[in-house]
Amino acid sequence: MSDVEIKKGLAGVTVDYTAVSKVNPDTNSLLYRGYPVQELAATQSFEAVAYLLWYGELPTDEELAQFVAEERAGRSLDENIKQTIDLLPLDAHPMDVVRTAVSVFGASDPAAFDTSRDSDLDKSRRLFAKLPAMVAYDQRRRRGQELVEPRDDLDYAQNFLWMTFGEIPDPLVAHAFNVSMILYAEHSFNASTFTARVITSTMADLYSAVVGAIGALKGPLHGGANEAVMHIFDEIGSAENVVPWLDDALANKKKIMGFGHRVYKKGDSRVPTMKAALDTLVEHYDADQLAALYDALESEFVSRKGIYPNLDYPSGPAYHLIGFDTLTFTPLFVAARVTGWTAHILEQAASNALIRPLSAYNGPDERHIEGYVADA
Ligand code: ACO
Repeated sequence: MSDVEIKKGLAGVTVDYTAVSKVNPDTNSLLYRGYPVQELAATQSFEAVAYLLWYGELPTDEELAQFVAEERAGRSLDENIKQTIDLLPLDAHPMDVVRTAVSVFGASDPAAFDTSRDSDLDKSRRLFAKLPAMVAYDQRRRRGQELVEPRDDLDYAQNFLWMTFGEIPDPLVAHAFNVSMILYAEHSFNASTFTARVITSTMADLYSAVVGAIGALKGPLHGGANEAVMHIFDEIGSAENVVPWLDDALANKKKIMGFGHRVYKKGDSRVPTMKAALDTLVEHYDADQLAALYDALESEFVSRKGIYPNLDYPSGPAYHLIGFDTLTFTPLFVAARVTGWTAHILEQAASNALIRPLSAYNGPDERHIEGYVADA
């Protein structure tokens, strides 16, 4: 056995620089291109934040107007994507649906293999505009509902909710949704972003990198946790059941979804902002029971284990209150994180080095096929 030091899960390993975002676990802070995410969530549209992630600066009014006009013009679901989604079983996981839809979208792009910065920015903006229609249509078809065409008089958050529910959302609900999209947009070298960077480092195209990132996001240790939080809430039922449920879960060494983080050990910087948005939804929807369950599980788990909630803990219940199917939660994360993924893809491509770590071999010693004689 080699005595080389193994960094399992790459924990604590710094693999590269990034100018896209800074996560500071000591101060529980998160900056996108230098701006605290809380300030962006309080003052900006998701469209402006997407622009910031790609171009490094917030847009001027004129730049934003042009960017938004382009996003609104690119929202409709292409017929071949709709047909592809329709071919998939109704009980296919929505993450599989969105992964397949993005793959088909990429395969249909004649410029798919053009990896120039301009072409990749163009692809990023088009994916950003298109993903809401893919996610919204999949939820609707599972409910036996018709496609709702986008409306170009609505902003990104309003239109996403319009295409999903066929109603103009209450401004408070659209605001909470906009906040969640901004908070989910970017988080440095998380598993899915790193996956996108690994794929980009081989000089594969942007769509391949995004499809790979979607696969990495699906797991419950990463993006799939927002969905898993709601399953836990369903299982527990109400606040009175939290203690016996937690006794049993911890006795069986279960991970409690929505808690813990590889980088933040004193609390996730994004949680207070998302919790405030959840509180507005709780009041709007009169959801006191859900809020009581949320508080009871948080205080009981934190006091027993000292492990704090991550962003998925408040966002899962928020999406539930807005009316999304639990299975749609992680695709919402995709629609938001595609901005961060593609900002990292651009950064990786601009100063590329193939990502190829080493491994320490711990298999059988060298051995040989009986009777084999090498050719002279
Ligand atoms: N429930 C119960 N125990 C936990 C939890 C949890 N949610 N999180 C960490 N722990 C415990 C581990 O069991 C381990 O205990 P041990 O030392 O006795 O074995 C210890 O805390 C350290 O945990 P690790 O899993 O080694 O920490 P790591 O940094 O690798 O994991 C992770 C981080 C994967 C996020 C973990 O906290 C977890 O599984 N959480 C639940 C899933 C989740 O919510 N994921 C969302 C991540 S954030 C996002 O994607 C927006």
